[in-house]
Amino acid sequence: MNDSVAWRHITPKVEAINHRIRELEWEPARRNNFVAYTPEVGTPYVHLDGERFLMMSGYGYVGLNGDPRVLEAAKAAVDTYGTGTPGVRALAGTVPLHEELEGEIAKFFGREGALVFSSGYAANVGTIGALVGAGDTIFLDKLDHASIVDGAQLSGAKLTRFRHNDPKHLDSRLAAADKSGTLLVIVDSVYSMDGDIAPLPELREVCDRHGALLMVDEAHALGTIGATGRGIEEHFNYEVKADIKVGTLSKAVPSNGGYLCGSEAFLQYLKRLARPFLFSAALNPAAVGAALETIRILDREPWRVTHAQTESARFRSIVQEAGFDTGLSQTAVVPLIVGSDENAWDFATASRKAGVIGLPVMTPAVEKGRARLRIAITAAHSKDDVDAGAEAFITAARQLRLIGG
Ligand SMILES: Cc1ncc(COP(=O)(O)O)c(C=O)c1O
Repeated sequence: MNDSVAWRHITPKVEAINHRIRELEWEPARRNNFVAYTPEVGTPYVHLDGERFLMMSGYGYVGLNGDPRVLEAAKAAVDTYGTGTPGVRALAGTVPLHEELEGEIAKFFGREGALVFSSGYAANVGTIGALVGAGDTIFLDKLDHASIVDGAQLSGAKLTRFRHNDPKHLDSRLAAADKSGTLLVIVDSVYSMDGDIAPLPELREVCDRHGALLMVDEAHALGTIGATGRGIEEHFNYEVKADIKVGTLSKAVPSNGGYLCGSEAFLQYLKRLARPFLFSAALNPAAVGAALETIRILDREPWRVTHAQTESARFRSIVQEAGFDTGLSQTAVVPLIVGSDENAWDFATASRKAGVIGLPVMTPAVEKGRARLRIAITAAHSKDDVDAGAEAFITAARQLRLIGG
């Protein structure tokens, strides 16, 4: 490593990270991060070094990655618009397909309009930065996604955290807050590492009482909750609404990009103030075409949502019965919590040897002692896949004595 004076504070940090990687991955068979699996497109299987594995930790909740209709739409978009966009959206970057996608997203969610960003991360950072700044206060659930935390920190607003899914604690935080500026509460609709759902009606009530805006990040809610996969408002039977709704086109939707739903007037404001929207190239045509076709298919094929919901509930009950701690999971995201980081790493390695990929999530992404394999059940998983996956995880965990039996 570079030992020049200029690098002296950075070199020890680089070495510490590399040391930790060597501790976990002392042989190639123990590699669990950055492994370049080749997907068997259209199925939940992947390939590595001539072997075939069942992927149980991917996204694609509605099973449309590789669907011929989505592939065709992406190809048609490239044929019509090329592989890149000639600029940022405000200048030469907007093509008709962007506006078509925004219209379709707004229609799907029953909102006046939508705006597409280059990622879900950019949608969060851009929206938060355009909404609040110095003199305002943001209230984040303790388990909110990193893109929300980063957006909040960059915004310059005062940042306050409240206990996970605890509207009473939010209430006390809001009661103590300086009310002279905007109060913005932000939650994930479905928590990405735990698979539980935000208590929207209670949060709405607390926000209304204190005059606070409520923003939801639907990254893991689109396609997974609500009878037709329309997310948290549908999940709670449209009893209440969020003020601001942000999501991604990279989880249920097998593409890239992020979106925000809102009124036309608010979208005009964001188009001029959301910096990651304003200063980053427009989403590329293939991604837009794939996302547009996926939203249309999802609208016509709600069985995809039902299938993933039914199979994730079945998977959860099989693994719970075998003694796994699945935390607070209520959705397609099912953590298999096994304690230390080393346990999770060993468990992932043993599962792959059994033919199934479950990827480890460790500190600092989750609390110390709560490391896990983060399993995601999708509409691409058949009942047999789910049974085979559960059995492989159970066998691997028993061998390692992570569960009894
Ligand atoms: C809750 C949540 N929000 C936002 C994002 C960012 O989405 P994208 O991958 O589109 O940047 C993620 C991605 O992991 C997420 O889990």
